[in-house]
Amino acid sequence: MTSDSSAAGWQGWDAYAPFYDWENRRTIGRRDVRFWTDLAQRAGGTVLELGCGTGRLSVPVARVAPRFVGIDRSEPMLRRLRARIRRARLTDRTSIVRGDIRALPFRRRWRCRLVMAPYGMLQSLLSDPDLNATLEAVAGVLPRGGTFGIDLVPELPRWREYHRRVGLRGPLSGGRRVALIESVRQVREHGMTVFDQEFLEWRGRRRTVHRFSLAFRTVTVPQIAERLERTGFRVDAVLGDYAGEEWSPDAQVWIVIARRI
Ligand SMILES: C[S@@+](CC[C@H](N)C(=O)[O-])C[C@H]1O[C@@H](n2cnc3c(N)ncnc32)[C@H](O)[C@@H]1O
Repeated sequence: MTSDSSAAGWQGWDAYAPFYDWENRRTIGRRDVRFWTDLAQRAGGTVLELGCGTGRLSVPVARVAPRFVGIDRSEPMLRRLRARIRRARLTDRTSIVRGDIRALPFRRRWRCRLVMAPYGMLQSLLSDPDLNATLEAVAGVLPRGGTFGIDLVPELPRWREYHRRVGLRGPLSGGRRVALIESVRQVREHGMTVFDQEFLEWRGRRRTVHRFSLAFRTVTVPQIAERLERTGFRVDAVLGDYAGEEWSPDAQVWIVIARRI
C-alpha cells in the first residue's frame, strides 16, 4: 500500500481484479447497463470506454455499437475483459488498449462518436491537472457533435467512516470462498475518500489475504460542468438516475451528458 500523500487513482485495481466482478455483481449489478447501451445505440458510431476494467459494461455496449474501444491501465482487469470478449465472439469489432486515460494513446486523427466514463471512473483522477488532462484528451478524440457521458458516484466525502467492517461473503469460482473486510477513510487534507479492502480467500482450509486500497475524489456536478465548458463541451443534460430523471443535488446518481462543440 502507498501512503495517502502519494496515492494515485490507478493503483489498487490490479489486486482488485480477481474480486471485482464478484463484488460488483452484488452492488451495482446491471443497473446502469441499459442506460449505456441506449446511449451507444443513439451515438451510431465508435464507442470509447474510459476505464473499461473487466468489461461489466464493455460487452453489452460492444454488442450494440458498430465498433468498441476500451482503455484501462490495469492488465489484470483487461485480461478478464479479453476473455469475455472472446467468449462473446466480439473480437472482430472490439479493440482493447492498455493505457492511461490522461494521455489517450490514439493516432492524431482517430475519432469516435461516444466517450463513456461510467461508474465514477473520473473519480480515480485525484488532482485537477489529471482531470483537466483527461478532459482535453477526450476533447481530442471527439468530433463536433460527439457525446461524452459521465457517471459520478455522489458525495463520497459524506460517507461515514468505518473500520474493518465485514461486508460481503460467499462462494467464488473454482470452489473457493471469499469474504470482504472493508474500511472507509476520509483523507480531507488531500480531498480523497479511501477504501481499504481486505479480501480473505479460502481454498479448502488454506486462507490467502489480499490487501489493497482504492482512492477516489468527488468533483461536484457544477464543477465538472464548468470544466467541460472550459474544455470545448456543452452540457446537454444532467440526470439523477439511469431512467433519465432530472438531476437534483441529493440525487442517487450524477450523470452528465456533454456534447463537443
Ligand atoms: C470503477 S472501475 C470501472 C470498470 C468498468 N468501467 C465498470 O463500470 O465496471 C475503474 C477502472 O478505471 C481504471 N483506471 C483508473 N485510473 C486509470 C487511468 N488513469 N487510466 C486508465 N485506467 C484507469 C481502473 O484500472 C479500473 O479498471
